[in-house]
Formats: sequence, structure tokens, C-alpha cells
Amino acid sequence: MKTTIAAAAAVAMMFCTQVQMSADEGMWLPSLISERIEDMQSKGFRLDAEEIYSVNQASLKDAVVLFGRGCTGELISAEGLLLTNHHCGYAQIQKHSSVEHDYLRDGFWAMTRDEELPNEGLTVSFLERMDDVTGQVLEGYTEGMTAMQRDSLVKANSNALIDKAVAGGKGLKATVESLYYGNQYFLFLYREYSDIRLVGAPPSSIGKFGGDTDNWMWPRHTGDFSIFRIYADRNNDPAPYSPDNVPYTPKKFFRISLGGVREGDFTFIYGFPGSTREYIMSRGVRYISEISDPMKIGLRTLRLGIQKKYMAGSQDVRIKYSSKNAGVANAWKKWQGESGGIRRLGTVAAKQEYEKRFSEWAAGSEYGDVLVRLDSLYTELEPYMYALEYCIESAGTVELCNFAARIAGMAGAAGKDSVQDPEKADSVAAAFREALAKAARAFYKDYYLPIDKESFIAVMNSFGRDIDPGFMPGCFTDGLARYGSVEEWADTLFGISIFSDSTRVLDLTLADTAAIADDPAVRFAVGFREWRDSDIYPVCRKLDKEIGLLYRTYMKGQMEFDPEKPFYPDANLTLRVAYGKVSGYSPADGVWYMPVSTLEGIMEKDDPEIFDYNIPQRLRDIHVSGDYGRWAVTGSDGVTTVPVCFLATNHTSGGNSGSPVINADGNLMGINFDRVWEGTMSDIVFDPAYCRNISLDIRYVMFIIDKVAGAGHLLDEMVFAD
Ligand code: ARG
Ligand code: ASP
Repeated sequence: MKTTIAAAAAVAMMFCTQVQMSADEGMWLPSLISERIEDMQSKGFRLDAEEIYSVNQASLKDAVVLFGRGCTGELISAEGLLLTNHHCGYAQIQKHSSVEHDYLRDGFWAMTRDEELPNEGLTVSFLERMDDVTGQVLEGYTEGMTAMQRDSLVKANSNALIDKAVAGGKGLKATVESLYYGNQYFLFLYREYSDIRLVGAPPSSIGKFGGDTDNWMWPRHTGDFSIFRIYADRNNDPAPYSPDNVPYTPKKFFRISLGGVREGDFTFIYGFPGSTREYIMSRGVRYISEISDPMKIGLRTLRLGIQKKYMAGSQDVRIKYSSKNAGVANAWKKWQGESGGIRRLGTVAAKQEYEKRFSEWAAGSEYGDVLVRLDSLYTELEPYMYALEYCIESAGTVELCNFAARIAGMAGAAGKDSVQDPEKADSVAAAFREALAKAARAFYKDYYLPIDKESFIAVMNSFGRDIDPGFMPGCFTDGLARYGSVEEWADTLFGISIFSDSTRVLDLTLADTAAIADDPAVRFAVGFREWRDSDIYPVCRKLDKEIGLLYRTYMKGQMEFDPEKPFYPDANLTLRVAYGKVSGYSPADGVWYMPVSTLEGIMEKDDPEIFDYNIPQRLRDIHVSGDYGRWAVTGSDGVTTVPVCFLATNHTSGGNSGSPVINADGNLMGINFDRVWEGTMSDIVFDPAYCRNISLDIRYVMFIIDKVAGAGHLLDEMVFAD
């Protein structure tokens, strides 16, 4: 009898674990992937753990890089060719663009190696290895140490480990990262390359097809890719740009899969997700979904409405604000999906219920009061956090004031330099004028005052209405008293500020430092900054530290409370493995989204009158001719077309853009670039029914390079597999 119950419990347990696992939730540490490999293999993966991550032999990790500061890229040839997203290479493509060579608009393709364009400041990093260093990081820790003492110990020990790790290797960089809120520490050792050249990018009408209208959405048809090449010195080591550098020879690169993408296919994403908060308590989730997200969405809705109005009325304004508008709209849309998803899932209530069970289990133990203490810290923190976030999304978005404060800062620093070293006063003054001219050119090129002024009025009126009187900054109440209303404040500020007139700005010299500091635009920005620094940040920082400390305990408690659950650490821009399968989903009652899109969908959306949907004529011509070459597929409906994007169930986050989507045989089937917005709450809670990542089918990438760009020579470097 006893054994039967035990067996039944074991079966039930297995069932529960399987249910959890089949959800495809999780961003796993590559060095511990042996713990997941059986599950991966049971879902179709045909490689073993050593082929994913190994320090002894070349493995897939050697074909994946952190691209820039927040994207992922992958190697696709023996000569250092690298793929990432168009939106990840956007800044580089833009930097090389001018009126004569508008690579954003027209695309760019290097037809020879000599034409590949260097990019100052761009780096890519390979993970050499990662090691659990918890023991070393906590060496010397004794029970009863204060949080401050523990922090400085961790810092000192980490720095020593980092110094040791990077000694004697070219381009080595290391970090020690805390996982599970400081319950574990890992050292990540990277090799960073800094001669990275632009090889190719499609025109934005392909690379950003659908723009912000389609962003975070399915069905999707964005050709979101760009191509770079890593260069190294003659020893294949990292080196700054030099014409003598040669293409980097990778330890490993991906073969391009021609096998296609079918519903149910195994998918594996290898990349650098930036940040998730899967283990926070209900209180934190409620703040995000019911307070913070709605506030930020509301303020951005105001600004987007104003931008849209002016952009619709003028081609010039549309160009000026397209990139800013994309940035504002991207998070705006994501937060809507996030808060909506959390509401739909009832995550706050579900976490409360979990917390009740946890507290019962924890009563009397070291975890007994952790939730009560966290809850009361949240009560203290929330009003400060709200005021801070509100300020960032309102006063912090006034372009003129931000620019003015930057110039004031430059003038102040230059003034100090010349006082310190009067002999250099002339050269300091000249350098200031030069830097000012450069900053002003960049700022006014994309500035339209009526948008800024109207946004100022909208967001600052909201600020006055929504901020609790106890948190109202003196600079705001004083300003209102002085000008009478936000409207009149705006009239004066935008009317008399030196910065509202670019020619006056270009005439400024260091002799005007006092006038700059007294400018209403500068005073506005500085007033809010001082308030934040004195009244808000110190409290936030202190509470944040205390909350972080309690989360360390709560995290440990959650792991003990639920010993069968496989826990993965929150994302922190370190290399992770996520696996799942190609799958459609139902976004709403009565609707089913199929998991693949094709060129036919691009043609359906094509509209020369709508900027986001105006494809290159060449693509139209190819569609008419049907000359798709080896990239043609014929669907079950008998239509011959080209595959474009697909959906899968991988758990991804911001930073996973550009990540390789790898098939069961370890070959490249796509490039990850987005999620569906009904599933963007996956940074906080993963819902298998709605959370889908969006990837570019690698065959569409090949089709564009081959047929649209006429850069088929690049394909000669690649290796193809079924
Ligand atoms: N939503 C994608 C990611 O966060 C792509 C963003 C770029 N594209 C855009 N239309 N704004 O970051
Ligand atoms: N588009 C995101 C990125 O840029 C990916 C995501 O949030 O799913 O990393």
C-alpha cells in the first residue's frame, strides 16, 4: 500500500514536472545544460550537451556573440561573417549614411572585402567560459555581516577573480554576475573583438518592413537582418581597426539549414537576454502591471499622439522623428502587452495564493517573515518609485531641456578646466566651441520645436495632476507660481530660451556660461535633476538594497519550497539557452494564428502610399516573375512563394534580438527578432498559451541577399545543410 502511494506520488510528480517543462519556459545556463539535455532530446534535439557548451572543444557557444551592448549575433562562415538584426545594426547603418549614400533607405552591400565599412566603438564578445565562483566570491563571509560589509567583500573578491581571469590574454574581459539574487555567483570570461565591419543591410523597406505598426505583432513580415564581419590581427587575436587586419577565423560557425520550418519543429535560441523578473512577489507584479505600466503608457500615448499629428503633416518632420518615434512606440507597445497579459493571467492573485502557501510552509523558519518584510518595504518604496518613473517619463523627455542641460554641463566642465590651467584657457574654449557645434548639429538636425513644446504642456500638466502633493518638487511648484500655468511656462521657456534658436546656440562661447546656467530650459532640467538626486534617489537606492537582500532569502526559500521545480536564473545579459518548438497561437477567441508567414503576405500589405509598407520595386518585380530560385517553397495550397517569418515557443527577452534559431541538428533555421505583444509579460510571467518569439526564416535572408541585393557571392562563404 505504502509503495503504491509512493509510486503514485512519483508519477504525479513526474507529470507535474513534465507539465512545467513542456511549457518551454526558461533561459538556461549553457554550462549547466547537461541538466536539461534529456528534456531537449526528448523534444527532438539531436546533439549532446558538449556540443552546446564546452571548454575543451569547439561548441555552438563559439558561434554566438554579444553584439554591441544589447543584441546577439551569430557566425555563419569560416571567414568571420556574422548575422544580427537590422534594428541591432541600425546605428551603424545610419552612421555610414548621408544624403548621397542613404544606406538606411537604399540598403548597403559590400561587393568586395575592401568595401566593408569599419565601425568605431562597435564590439562583439565571445564567451570563452563561465564558472561557478560562489565559493571564492563569498570567501571571508561570516554570518552576521551587514549588507554593506557583504557587498564590499563580494566586490573585492570579484575584482580579484576578474583580474586573474583576464591576465595575459588579448581582448579578454570578465565579469562576475550574481544569479538568483546573490545566492550564486558566476564568472563570465569573454574575448572582445573591436574591428567589426558592415557587410550588408537590406533597405529599411525590407529590414524594417511594417515599422511600428507591425512591431510586436503577428502576422509579421519584417526582413530584420544585417550582416557584419569580424576582423582580427594575423594571429586571429582581437585588434583595433587596421587595414592590415584579416577576417577572423571562428572556432565554430553555423551551417545554414535549407530543411525548412514546420509546425512542431524543435527550436533552440542561443543568446543574451537582458533582464527578467520571474521570481518577484505579487506586490512587485502589481506595481508593474497596475501602476507603473499604465502610467508610462498614458504619458507616451500623449507624446505619440502629438508626434503623429505633426509627422502626418510634413515629410520633413516625419523623417526627423521616425527614429525617436520608434523608440517611444516600442516600449509603449510592449508595456501594453505586458500589463494586459498579467491582468489576463491573474498573476497578482496567483502569486498571492502561492505566497500564502509559502508563508504557511515557512512559518517559524528563516523564511518566516520574508514576505511580510518585503511587503512593507514595497509600501515604502512605491511612492518614491512612482515619482521617479513619472519624472523620467515626463520632465525627463523634454528634448530642449535635456539638450540645454547637456550644453550647460559641458560649459561648466570647460570653465573649471580653464580655471585650473589658465594657460590652456584658449584651447579649452576652442574645444568647447567645437564640441558645442557638433552636439548642436546632431540635435537640431532631428528637432522640431512644436512637438517638443506641445509634449511639454501635455506631460507636465499630467505631472501636476498625478503627483501626490507630498512628492511635488519645489522646482515645479515654484515654476507654476511664477508662470501661472504650464502653458505659460511653456510659452516663456520655448519662447526665450537661447536653445530654441540654433543660430544663437552656435554663437555661444564660454563667456556665456552664466547666461547658459540661467536659461529657463537649463533651469527646468537642473531643477528636476537636483530634486531627484536629493529627495528621491537616496531613498530608492537604500530601499532597493534592502529589497534585493530580502529577495536573496526569498529566492532561496522558493527553491526549497518547490524542490522539484527546475529554476533558471533571471536574465542578466549573460548567455542562455531557450528551447521550444515552432507553434502558432490563439490571440483571441475564435482566432488562430498560423506559425509561418510568406512573401504573399508582404504583397498583401504592400502599399506605395504607406511608408511602412512600401516595398522596393525590385521585390515586386521578382514576385511577378516568380523567380525565387532555390528559395522557392510550395505550400499545401499549391502556391509557390518564399517563407518569411515564423513563431515559436522559446522564452526570450530584449537582448535576444539577433539570436540564432537553431534546429534539432544544430543548424541555423532563423534569426530571432521580436515577441508577440500578447506575450510580452514573459519578462515577469511566462504563459505557454500566448508567449511566442518571432524569427526571420533564414531562407528569406538568403533570398534577399541572393535575389534582391545581388550579393550572392556572400553565399559562397556559407555552408548549407538540409
Ligand atoms: N520590438 C523589437 C524589440 O524590442 C524590435 C524593435 C525595433 N523596431 C521598431 N519598429 N521599433 O526590441
Ligand atoms: N526586439 C527585442 C530585442 O531587441 C527582442 C524581444 O524583446 O523579444 O532584443
